[in-house]
Amino acid sequence: MNNPTVKTIGLIGAGKIGSQIARLATANGYNVVISNSRGPETLSELIKELGPRARAASAVDAAKAGDIVVVTVPLKNYRAVPVAPLAGKIVIDTNNYYPQRDGHIAELDNESTTTAELLQAHLPSSKVVKGFNHIYAAELTTHGQPAGSKNRRALVIAGDDPGAKAVVTSLLDQFGFDTVDAGPLKEGWRIQRDTPGYGPRRTAEELRKDLAAAKRYADQ
Ligand SMILES: NC(=O)c1ccc[n+]([C@@H]2O[C@H](COP(=O)([O-])OP(=O)(O)OC[C@H]3O[C@@H](n4cnc5c(N)ncnc54)[C@H](OP(=O)(O)O)[C@@H]3O)[C@@H](O)[C@H]2O)c1
Repeated sequence: MNNPTVKTIGLIGAGKIGSQIARLATANGYNVVISNSRGPETLSELIKELGPRARAASAVDAAKAGDIVVVTVPLKNYRAVPVAPLAGKIVIDTNNYYPQRDGHIAELDNESTTTAELLQAHLPSSKVVKGFNHIYAAELTTHGQPAGSKNRRALVIAGDDPGAKAVVTSLLDQFGFDTVDAGPLKEGWRIQRDTPGYGPRRTAEELRKDLAAAKRYADQ
């Protein structure tokens, strides 16, 4: 396994993206502890599908159990993510901002911050890496290809901790994707909703061009 120190992936959120990351993780030999807002008993079907490497838990227990933890809840709920059990850990943030779903968040409307920076501010001792935010959930299990494949799909990461980004890059590679590093968290806006790279299948080279061509909402 490429990430010898990562044995268990915790998931806060078990919806379209959370369940798909859980499928990729168990298929690649990781243990998974997955949570939602309604309680572990509501995840029995998914756990049955995922098999013996997976268990359902509360969000706090998923945060405690994960060597890496993925936060994949509607953005409006990010303040409910438990803080103490995530201290020191790599936290992958899949979240996007949709005002019609999340309500208006002034500092995102005026682009003085980004979604992943909000989560990083909520989790000051964690190493937040933005990831998985611009691929449709269904494609996570259908678009992956082995390393070195021609025209392999790439996914963007952003983060302030180089070591954390290296671990996430290695995880993405195992899951079937190349990685393009957009830089620190504050550059995450380059892959937010309505930017060129948000949604379509792109190689690393194409994504780099998309990131360079991204425009702020105010300039669109
Ligand atoms: N869908 C996509 O293709 C896609 C792609 C990339 C990124 N994203 C982004 O990723 C995030 C998740 O999207 P999604 O489509 O997976 O959403 P979703 O299908 O609506 O699932 C959200 C999950 O979060 C759980 N949740 C909500 N509040 C929680 C809390 N306080 N503690 C623990 N779990 C909580 C929900 O649990 P309950 O069901 O029990 O409430 C549900 O399992 C969003 O920000 C979205 O914009 C989505």
